[in-house]
Amino acid sequence: MSKTATLQIDGKSYEFPLVTGTEKERAIDIKTLRGVTGGVTTIDPGYKNTGSCESAITFLNGEEGILRYRGYAIEELAEKADFLEVAYLLIFGELPTKHELDKFHADIKAQSHVDEDVKKILDGFPKSAHPMGVLSSLTSALVAFNPSSVNVDSEEEMYNAIVRLMAKFPVLTAWAYRKRVGLPLDYGDDSLGYVDNFVKMMFKKPSGDYNSNKTIVEAMDKLLILHADHEQNCSTSTVRMVGSSHAGLFVSISAGIAALWGPLHGGANQAVIEMLEAIKEDGGDTHKFMQKAKDKEDPFRLMGFGHRVYKNFDPRAKIIKKSADDVLEALGVDDPVLDIAKDLEKEALSDNYFVDRKLYPNVDFYSGIIYRAMGIPVEMFTPMFALGRLPGWIAQWREMRLRKEPIGRPRQVYIGENLRPFKSVENR
Ligand code: CMC
Repeated sequence: MSKTATLQIDGKSYEFPLVTGTEKERAIDIKTLRGVTGGVTTIDPGYKNTGSCESAITFLNGEEGILRYRGYAIEELAEKADFLEVAYLLIFGELPTKHELDKFHADIKAQSHVDEDVKKILDGFPKSAHPMGVLSSLTSALVAFNPSSVNVDSEEEMYNAIVRLMAKFPVLTAWAYRKRVGLPLDYGDDSLGYVDNFVKMMFKKPSGDYNSNKTIVEAMDKLLILHADHEQNCSTSTVRMVGSSHAGLFVSISAGIAALWGPLHGGANQAVIEMLEAIKEDGGDTHKFMQKAKDKEDPFRLMGFGHRVYKNFDPRAKIIKKSADDVLEALGVDDPVLDIAKDLEKEALSDNYFVDRKLYPNVDFYSGIIYRAMGIPVEMFTPMFALGRLPGWIAQWREMRLRKEPIGRPRQVYIGENLRPFKSVENR
């Protein structure tokens, strides 16, 4: 196999090295392009063909439907690991020993308080505020309460920032929910597991005992694992980009939360349920909505279908689909929206428009149905995604800093006006 790629511009040839990843992915290294060609750049809106970094965290092959964290298959992790183990694996590169995991959990528990003054900030938001905006703001506000910026030459400082965020983020997520539904803000129970504790922080009522529901905790754990990382997606690239300016961990993650909010990214799980509800309200005619999705004059898209990188199937969707059936059965929930989802999936999988464009159900097509069965309101679906993605964002930020990556600063091709003289206001 050749080791270089040749580019010809204006009759001149330029050689660029080919880089090969551990899974034989090949890339043209164009670091020297502008220098050797005298300023020629590349253009790739949406970065469909551009690798922004080398990374050892997540491997994804969209053609074959493969997703692995640090070399472990997502299917195996979803079945055998728990979320905290997966978080450790993503962030530090190896599955933890029992001792390492216990220490990680103990360190997180030691930081699981949030300054009481943060409650005053939360108080300032209207109840109707979208929890993603609240969560992004509160995560950014954590900087004020933990002001030291992180020295990446100090493993200890990085570790401390990481456990702080892993500890406080579930509290903030639960608070965003409790504020929305009018429940008093509560702290967790350090005697419980990480996910069990989070579920308790969400659902514990001010009066009465709280009984942990195994089905809900296990389903939540699995969902968080499936969302934990997805290499250089929109929010992760945002976290790396913001962090590349040497902004701290909390504020980089706050920016990632904002990026995740959009309906084309993490916000799709909310959009899916809203779409399924709308179809139900409209009489349940899935065919009509399929036609709308295919009509280029109609802005409607089938939410929960399609993916920038999966052009075969989304392996997370396969796992989650089965989980949705199990959870609904275990909780005794009969959700008509699930039937609409199944009809839509069946139609789309045999429709030429969707088949030709390789549009398959993605992870968010079924996750909302599970969250709904657990009693979580739709506006909280994307915050659930954020909680799951937190270790991935942290791992990517840490890797970017340890590799001492340069500040992210893309180029452009300018298509505006050429130099023109200024006209005074009376002459315009
Ligand atoms: N419904 C109808 N048509 C679609 C859809 C859809 N959901 N998704 C893509 N298409 C069409 C699109 O119109 C285009 O058609 P044509 O070639 O005729 O112009 C073609 O398929 C390719 O689409 P694209 O927008 O160029 O593909 P992309 O890679 O830029 O976008 C996507 C990927 C996920 C943004 C898009 O598929 C989409 O908008 N899906 C719905 C939103 C959604 O479910 N997002 C969650 C993604 S999974 C969670 C996450 O990782 O964030």
